[in-house]
Amino acid sequence: MPGLTIGDSLPNLQVDTTHGKINLHDYVGDSFTIIFSHPGDFTPVCTTELGAMAAYADKFAQRGVKLLGLSCDDVQSHKEWIKDIEAYNKGKKVTYPIAADPNREIIKQLNMVDPDEKDASGQNLPSRALHIVGPDKKIKLSFLYPASTGRNMDEVVRALDSLIKASQHKIATPVNWKEGEPVVIAPSVSNDEARKMFPKGFQTVDLPSNKDYLRFTSV
Ligand code: BEZ
Repeated sequence: MPGLTIGDSLPNLQVDTTHGKINLHDYVGDSFTIIFSHPGDFTPVCTTELGAMAAYADKFAQRGVKLLGLSCDDVQSHKEWIKDIEAYNKGKKVTYPIAADPNREIIKQLNMVDPDEKDASGQNLPSRALHIVGPDKKIKLSFLYPASTGRNMDEVVRALDSLIKASQHKIATPVNWKEGEPVVIAPSVSNDEARKMFPKGFQTVDLPSNKDYLRFTSV
């Protein structure tokens, strides 16, 4: 994936949104922030995705996470579209800002361009990209989906929980992990360090290699 990716700093752009002008670094502040793009206003999959984000907004707020949507149409169009999103979503309000990008400058800088989707005038549309940005303003995780495939918001929450936990402890989360399940101790942590670091102890899985790298614990 060329362009902005994991480990890169979020460009400090000024963007026009449904909540007024936003400076991206100021908006992120000390929080994890999800920036998610959509091909266009008044399109079916996008309407369901933005509605789901509104429905999940409380889950993100409980985790101290901010949201910023982006679609390439202008702010006035977004404001009209929000009425449809809220109606489809049984009145649940869209409380997060949606950025506009009529000149496609933001999507280029945020690596959110879909090369296969163009509007009537031939301009590129955004992909369904989603970056989770850390309080250090660096990209921690990116999803990149085509226009035809709506995202799974439960997976966004799950990945976010993993990122937050891994930022607090020297752990990683195994396949299909969910909040509350055991985690694995990071390979960089020795057994001696792990005994001090994880007061609840840990279980090492016996493997044919006799290497003790698969260690489960709870945090
Ligand atoms: C949609 O949101 O449904 C959509 C947008 C652009 C292309 C295809 C689908």
